[in-house]
Amino acid sequence: MKKKLIMDVDTGVDDAQAIMMALAAPGVEILGITCCHGNTPLENVLKNTLRVLKVCNRLDVPVYRGCAEPLVAHKRHAGDFHGKDGLGDAPDPDAPGLDAVQEEKAAVALIRMVNENPGEVTLVATAPLTNLAMAVNLDPSFPEKLKALYIMGGNTESRGNTTVCGEFNFVADSEAAYVVLDRYTCPTYIATWEFSCRSSLPWSFVDTWLAQDTDKARFMERISSLTRKMVQTERYQKELVSGTEFNSCDTYAVAAAIDETLLTESERVAVTVELQGTNTRGMMVLDHMELLKKKHKAIIMKTVDLEKFKQLLMNALK
Ligand code: BDR
Ligand code: CA
Repeated sequence: MKKKLIMDVDTGVDDAQAIMMALAAPGVEILGITCCHGNTPLENVLKNTLRVLKVCNRLDVPVYRGCAEPLVAHKRHAGDFHGKDGLGDAPDPDAPGLDAVQEEKAAVALIRMVNENPGEVTLVATAPLTNLAMAVNLDPSFPEKLKALYIMGGNTESRGNTTVCGEFNFVADSEAAYVVLDRYTCPTYIATWEFSCRSSLPWSFVDTWLAQDTDKARFMERISSLTRKMVQTERYQKELVSGTEFNSCDTYAVAAAIDETLLTESERVAVTVELQGTNTRGMMVLDHMELLKKKHKAIIMKTVDLEKFKQLLMNALK
């Protein structure tokens, strides 16, 4: 039986890479893709997701409209990094129209898809967690019907990429991240910012990856050239853990969900999100001393098998 996946995204260049990786994995069935505000406004996220599906000839995968705003926080985007349109400002004049988006809204669709497949669905979240917070508010039993949840977000050493101590997805909707870490008691794997930096790949791999003679590789070359330039600038170098090269943050979460043997080292610890701090709002907090008395512990990803990861990336553009 194929592994059933739902992806919650804010497509973004690395979200596009994550979606393409999942679409290419033979043992995976994507039940649907739910979209959230984040890297770019929701309308762009929907459009970008459809563009990715089009280049993969997979417009049969249903795409759902999620939240356009965070629960409480002020809306923020990452247009200076991912491009104003979220996909490197390399437009496709024949992009599919938004009429291809489903009528059903994301949080409702999440609950329905999981109710139809109880205990079988792995949810991969690579966006601010607003849609997931909405789903658990609508149906408190939603998380316990999931097989597992994989999140790209948060940090382990208070290194920020958006604020001093905050990673983008957890800063863009800190209240939603708090709700999800508190109420999703299914097995929860977290690919943090520092982990993704430390698991980065050499640029020489990227050259080989993009040199594949396929439409998918040409599409990736176009949408990723702006972020590749940006990441080399002084401003972005400061975000990165030293030694970081190509960091496709979102793909680690999906790769670990696709192949359970990918994760080679992890740590179980209860986590929460700081909501009050002047400089630390949105920072993930790890409760090593168990002072918060939380029963549920998250699995913090530490290392992955990079050879397997590279193979999954190569297959994504084949
Ligand atoms: C996360 O923020 C977004 O910009 C990326 O798509 C990724 O999900 C990294 O902090
Ligand atoms: Ca993302």
